[in-house]
Amino acid sequence: MKPLYRAKPQDGVWWITGASSGIGRGVALEAVKRGFKVVATARRLEALQDLAREAEGLSGVIIPMVCDISDAAAIMQLVADIEAAHGPVTLAFLNAGTYRPVNAYPFDAAAFREMFAVNVGGTINCLDAVMPLMCAREWGQIALNASVAGYIGLPRSAAYSGTKAALIAMAESLKFDTDKCGVTMQVVNPGFVETPLTAKNDHPMPFLMPLDEAAKLICDGFETGGFEITFPWQLSRILKTLRLLPYAFYFWLVGRATSG
Ligand SMILES: NC(=O)c1ccc[n+]([C@@H]2O[C@H](COP(=O)([O-])OP(=O)(O)OC[C@H]3O[C@@H](n4cnc5c(N)ncnc54)[C@H](OP(=O)(O)O)[C@@H]3O)[C@@H](O)[C@H]2O)c1
Repeated sequence: MKPLYRAKPQDGVWWITGASSGIGRGVALEAVKRGFKVVATARRLEALQDLAREAEGLSGVIIPMVCDISDAAAIMQLVADIEAAHGPVTLAFLNAGTYRPVNAYPFDAAAFREMFAVNVGGTINCLDAVMPLMCAREWGQIALNASVAGYIGLPRSAAYSGTKAALIAMAESLKFDTDKCGVTMQVVNPGFVETPLTAKNDHPMPFLMPLDEAAKLICDGFETGGFEITFPWQLSRILKTLRLLPYAFYFWLVGRATSG
């Protein structure tokens, strides 16, 4: 088996999707502090330009580029443009995603379709663009941003938990192949992090973590290269324990805990 690759600043550029706000933005800034050149993508150019300005004076640099991850052809072209202009993508942090609570009734099929199209379909588009290049080079690093919500079906989270469970399973499964060609496959499973996405929540968020702390933990995890990067450890451990319970006990316990 080939040794698994860890991105180094001299080898090329990072690509971070969903870098216009929240976790993607925080990780981009942390990476620049660590000396990396980062291509930051999302749909909102102005927010990406703000990020680039905020990074001025740090040891790396932010290159803003606009792209919607649900547009497969545009993503393919984007990655070709990145590599032509800035060199190989050394690390792809496929982070862009969206969240809306859903219920069984009324059943909001549009919300399901939107979350699966962006969180899963968009990530597949990005993998399609970057995976062949890394596998041909026999080095590279890919991290999918899933969630602890993907460990098990949580109340009002049928669509979101479903998309994140899919990403976790995809990363686990792809790792068997990427290990053989020297490409490091990782999955990031955050609990609650302070971002615009969680600011919309009207329910308690146990162990809510500040963004800069989460960004440091993610970048540390990229450096060490272990398969799963998950935090805060308390919430991650509680949810991993819940998924070991018999279903009858799980539904009773979580139903009671969240009934308010
Ligand atoms: N915050 C948490 O507690 C938490 C916990 C676990 C996992 N996560 C995951 O972390 C990721 C980032 O979440 P966040 O909390 O940082 O949310 P956020 O602040 O809302 O950021 C979401 C990012 O995704 C981008 N995005 C959304 N749809 C896109 C599309 N079609 N094409 C390209 N970019 C798109 C947005 O940029 P534009 O609108 O500019 O396109 C934005 O930059 C998500 O995958 C989320 O599921 C978050």
